[in-house]
Amino acid sequence: MNNSTPKPPEKQTWSQRFESALHPAIAQFNASIGFDIELIEYDLSGSQAHAQMLAYTGIISAEEGQQLVEGLEQIRQEYRQGYFTPGIDAEDVHFAVERRLTELLGDVGKKLHTARSRNDQVGTDTRLYLRDQITQIRQQICDFQTVLLDLASQHVETLIPGYTHLQRAQPLSLAHHLLAYVEMTQRDWDRLGDLSHRVNISPLGCGALAGTTFPIDRHYSANLLGFEQIYANSLDGVSDRDFAIEFLCAASLIMVHLSRLSEEVILWASEEFGFVTLKDSCSTGSSIMPQKKNPDVPELVRGKTGRVFGHLQALLVLMKGLPLAYNKDLQEDKEALFDSVKTVQACLEAMTILMQEGLEFRPTRLNEAVAEDFSNATDVADYLAAKGVPFREAYNLVGKVVKTSLAAGKLLKDLTMEEWQSIHPAFEGDIYEAIAPRQVVAARNSAGGTGFEQVRGAIERAKNRLSNSAQ
Ligand code: ARG
Repeated sequence: MNNSTPKPPEKQTWSQRFESALHPAIAQFNASIGFDIELIEYDLSGSQAHAQMLAYTGIISAEEGQQLVEGLEQIRQEYRQGYFTPGIDAEDVHFAVERRLTELLGDVGKKLHTARSRNDQVGTDTRLYLRDQITQIRQQICDFQTVLLDLASQHVETLIPGYTHLQRAQPLSLAHHLLAYVEMTQRDWDRLGDLSHRVNISPLGCGALAGTTFPIDRHYSANLLGFEQIYANSLDGVSDRDFAIEFLCAASLIMVHLSRLSEEVILWASEEFGFVTLKDSCSTGSSIMPQKKNPDVPELVRGKTGRVFGHLQALLVLMKGLPLAYNKDLQEDKEALFDSVKTVQACLEAMTILMQEGLEFRPTRLNEAVAEDFSNATDVADYLAAKGVPFREAYNLVGKVVKTSLAAGKLLKDLTMEEWQSIHPAFEGDIYEAIAPRQVVAARNSAGGTGFEQVRGAIERAKNRLSNSAQ
């Protein structure tokens, strides 16, 4: 063999049944170590619990169990210090760890895989990983809500046009608008909490598919790992990925919410709206147009949303029609899951920073915006209706007023008392107060409405809820 000929890979870990090594390209194709190294900390913890269970049940000796736990801990340290960097030849993180353990402990290392398969092992690792990530994402949602609530507290009396069909509809308290996102993300927080119970079920001990001949104690290892339950059926245990799909649904909804806010910030920052200015810390310039300041953060969040939806779709299709039990297709769940987790975490972080310090609302511009339109027309109709005019009749009357005012280039606030009276004798001097934007907002004091009193109550309740969920 000369020096330029690639060294054939060593024979693989699996059984002596195989005569020769994998074709190098196939080894590369088959390997997941490039991405499942992400699971290593969970793989080590899962294996430690398994080793302890083997010792507890007497399947291995207490001393062997101890050695395995310590050996695995050493690998953890090696990994954290950057010494443990398995290559393609390890195939996946599970083989990589077992191989290193055997290097460290000799024959004892080879006992770790008693009464276990990589199928229940990878399911265990993935659930432990996701459980941790969910905790982190829920905390990030709380941080995001804290920032929104701070902002809302500062802007209870700042008015902003409210839209339907992207047409000015009725003015709002800016706080009320921001609080809508607190509510949306609260559902995200709740949803993650709900689905986390279905993530937190142990498949360890389901074996390859049918259970094992050894007298294992699945509850023992599940307890050590903090699982709430064990899978009741071994086939289901090794092949269920519902928990990952459920997570991706929840992740997709988080992205829906973040991308809606992103779109609003992008609009608000435009010259046409001018409701916010972007701070330098969260925006970028153009390489050619020196006047520009671009809302890259919300644009990227809006763009990344598609990735997460795509991963959800990928997992649904991956699982559709998959026969029981484990199939190698399932290895494909990981990149979708990992990328979604990272994307959601990165987007939550970026949006939190953006809302905290990346933009400034422009009260003067917002005040002008709510004063220069007909978004108080409903209040004129309500005014008449409160005086006994049937609402539909009042609505039609005001429609005419808007039409003639538009033609005359006037706003409602500019109509004279005579003009009001000529429309309907029920109008009195207090009509001017009733249609002032501040009053228009304050008057919507129905439960869940934008009235300042309602908004103050909503902020209070959201703050209390947040301090309870942070506990
Ligand atoms: N790397 C594999 C995966 O991610 C581990 C399980 C392999 N199991 C098997 N029967 N080949 O799914």
